[in-house]
Amino acid sequence: MANAEDVLRADLAHLRAQLAGELRTLAGTRLLITGGAGFLGYYLVQTITDWNASAAPADRVHLTVWDNFTRGAPEWLRRLEGAPALQVDRVDLIAPLPPGVEPFDWVIHAAGIASPRVYRMYPLETIDANINGLRNLLEWGRRQAEAGRPLRGFLFYSSSEIYGDPTADAIPTPETYRGLVSCTGPRACYDESKRFGETLATIYARYHGLPVTIARPFNNYGPGLKITDGRVIPDFAQCLLEGRDIVMHSDGSPTRTFCYAADAVAGYYKVLVRGRPGEAYNIGVEEPEVSMRGLADRLGALGRELFGWRGRVVTEPSGEADYLVDNPNRRCPVIAKARTDLGYAPGIGLDEGLRRSLLWYGGNATAAAG
Ligand SMILES: NC(=O)c1ccc[n+]([C@@H]2O[C@H](COP(=O)([O-])OP(=O)(O)OC[C@H]3O[C@@H](n4cnc5c(N)ncnc54)[C@H](O)[C@@H]3O)[C@@H](O)[C@H]2O)c1
Repeated sequence: MANAEDVLRADLAHLRAQLAGELRTLAGTRLLITGGAGFLGYYLVQTITDWNASAAPADRVHLTVWDNFTRGAPEWLRRLEGAPALQVDRVDLIAPLPPGVEPFDWVIHAAGIASPRVYRMYPLETIDANINGLRNLLEWGRRQAEAGRPLRGFLFYSSSEIYGDPTADAIPTPETYRGLVSCTGPRACYDESKRFGETLATIYARYHGLPVTIARPFNNYGPGLKITDGRVIPDFAQCLLEGRDIVMHSDGSPTRTFCYAADAVAGYYKVLVRGRPGEAYNIGVEEPEVSMRGLADRLGALGRELFGWRGRVVTEPSGEADYLVDNPNRRCPVIAKARTDLGYAPGIGLDEGLRRSLLWYGGNATAAAG
């Protein structure tokens, strides 16, 4: 694999192979993806456009993407304009839904503010997308069922952040762990609205029979994640591409397990199509659990190999006072439930995923900045 196009091709082939059964189930149906212009949208949307490119017309998935494009429409989505069975609309999920929406069979609600740097700046908008936006969509799904056109699946994006900063005995963390979360700290707007979003989702599943499933992503990274997003891997990648030292804003000791986007998106389609209503599934990887220092060293080694980077790894406090407040020390999932119940099988290891990500950033330096 030598460049960004190779990465996209390999990842879409991986998704097609992982999702052969799920794509056959989706064939010929109508799917709505909210927040489809974002990071996870990159592969959520292109999995479908890739399928549609070779499917018979009757087997195409009719995909509608809604996004408010507050950070602009990404280049990759503009390039898909005119793809068969794809419609992209500017919709703000905080407002009432647009009138006359045609029924959908499947809904993926990924709209939300996901970057810690951004949600600390826009806490109320973060809460609104996770709570009001979700409630609007669930209500609409309920009315659609009453009108005789029940949804077949509805995926709500929660987060591993609903677990907060787990105690040592709760790591790795299974779905049954109830969390250790601040309800007043600078991250609470995100963590608590995801928790309440899960409550709403399960109420609509339990009392209204909606087929709502919940994904709890654990630190996804890879193609589609803007280099300016503020999450750690694009931050470090930006240092490499600009030939600067890698700057860590912690002492390097917090640990995470990082899940490559193409593996994660395969998991999300499995939660949508095969998940049990009202159930939550961890989507991530169990290993390796790496420290931020270890991550910086791995990226540095790849940067030297791919771009001739010659910098060092340095520590500097963030200019943002709340950067580390309530930052969990460790984050690592148990994914046995998704493996056993859904056939989720992540297969792209950390070094390979980081290599693909850097190749992608190298080839999309401008597009990834938007
Ligand atoms: N990427 C991860 O590792 C991760 C981890 C945990 C949870 N999640 C959740 O998964 C979902 C998708 O995450 P992502 O990483 O793709 O985020 P992202 O920020 O890259 O994309 C989210 C998209 O939602 C859109 N959006 C935001 N508010 C909106 C609104 N009110 N109406 C319409 N569109 C709106 C944004 O414009 C953006 O295109 C989010 O709900 C996020 O909280 C992601």
